[in-house]
Amino acid sequence: MAQKSHLHLDEEPDYNEYVVCKYRVTTDLPMEKAAEALAAEQSTGTWTGISTLDDEIFDTLGARVVSIEGDEVVVEFPVEDFSVEVGSVPQILSVIAGNLFGLGSLKGVRLEDVSFPDSINSQFKGPKFGAQGIRELLGRPEKPLVGTIVKPKIGLDPERTAQYVYEAGSGGLTNSKDDETLVDQAFCPIDERTVAVAEALDLLKDEGHLMMHAINVSTRGDRIVELAEKVQGWGATELMVDVITCGFGAVQALAEDPSIKVPIHVHRTMHGAFTKDPYHGIAMLPLTRLVRMCGGDALHIGTLGVGKMAADAKDDGNLAACLGDDVPFKTVMPVCSGGAYPGIVADIIARSGMDVQIQAGGGVAGHPGGVKAGAMGMSQAVDAAFLGIPAEEYAKDHPELSEALAKWGKKK
Ligand code: 3PG
Repeated sequence: MAQKSHLHLDEEPDYNEYVVCKYRVTTDLPMEKAAEALAAEQSTGTWTGISTLDDEIFDTLGARVVSIEGDEVVVEFPVEDFSVEVGSVPQILSVIAGNLFGLGSLKGVRLEDVSFPDSINSQFKGPKFGAQGIRELLGRPEKPLVGTIVKPKIGLDPERTAQYVYEAGSGGLTNSKDDETLVDQAFCPIDERTVAVAEALDLLKDEGHLMMHAINVSTRGDRIVELAEKVQGWGATELMVDVITCGFGAVQALAEDPSIKVPIHVHRTMHGAFTKDPYHGIAMLPLTRLVRMCGGDALHIGTLGVGKMAADAKDDGNLAACLGDDVPFKTVMPVCSGGAYPGIVADIIARSGMDVQIQAGGGVAGHPGGVKAGAMGMSQAVDAAFLGIPAEEYAKDHPELSEALAKWGKKK
């Protein structure tokens, strides 16, 4: 076959028939050459011309570079490049985010965004509950959800974990969860922890307060559904999955299994390994889109530029990817987590709007009055923001918020 080009720079991206990806490319080559190399490697080419590539294969399966503007390269992949197997994220990622990261001709390349046509979206089911479903389970239709991560992240035994959850609920929190490194350690077996936490949640319910706690079921792929079923049987009201370490298939397996009847809270630990560098890796946005397709009901998106993960936690489209109506899936509850404390709650809500779950570990357990007072401080901060009252003003007759502001101040 005579050498053909992947460049189609006079054409508009076709969002109906192609998977359209936006990359940021850094290279010493002319950008057109670099884009050509990327499109070739990810579809029908390799580093040299090959005798087995014919026109038909190239024309039907070759990736097409449809735009180059500065360092932004838009590439569209024919749907035929993707597996007909239902909803295969591993294969999708190998195409749109695979070998290209290692290409010697590119100094850096970052997948910034991806859009899927209906033919691929229809292979996925999306969340079972979504943001609205979680709100319904909690009987909280409008106010932001407010939660905590049990701290220390490892070390408490089941009884102390349950006590923490009870105090957090007594202080008004709607959500709590295991941290990303806690699953089934000897000091806190998952069966005993789940039962103890379920009892604490039942007690809160008897007292008139609805709360859910996500039990972390992150484990090997061949066991996660079985573990989740057991945990559900022991009384779990929500499950948590570390999506990057477990894989998207883990979220999907749980979301699509009819036996799983509680929401899935998705933690993104390890994402910083590839989201943090603005010139190389994968931005959070494609990951958010995939989590929604795979059925995560709630997803960590950082604290929108104001918490401990501030440097890599700006919104960058993730709120819209969780809540937008441009895809045929239920919405995902965006979770602002990581260094949150009462003094930054208003700033977060100003950026997120009311459809958000804000949660704090240190910002609850570090309160001078203990966990219940810390929960009250966070809860009061959310109430103040919901009512449009400045936190300092609201704190005048809410001592727990006042103490939190005295300890941590407002935005750092
Ligand atoms: C998380 O899971 O987001 C972190 O463990 C949050 O903990 P922190 O509120 O103490 O930063």
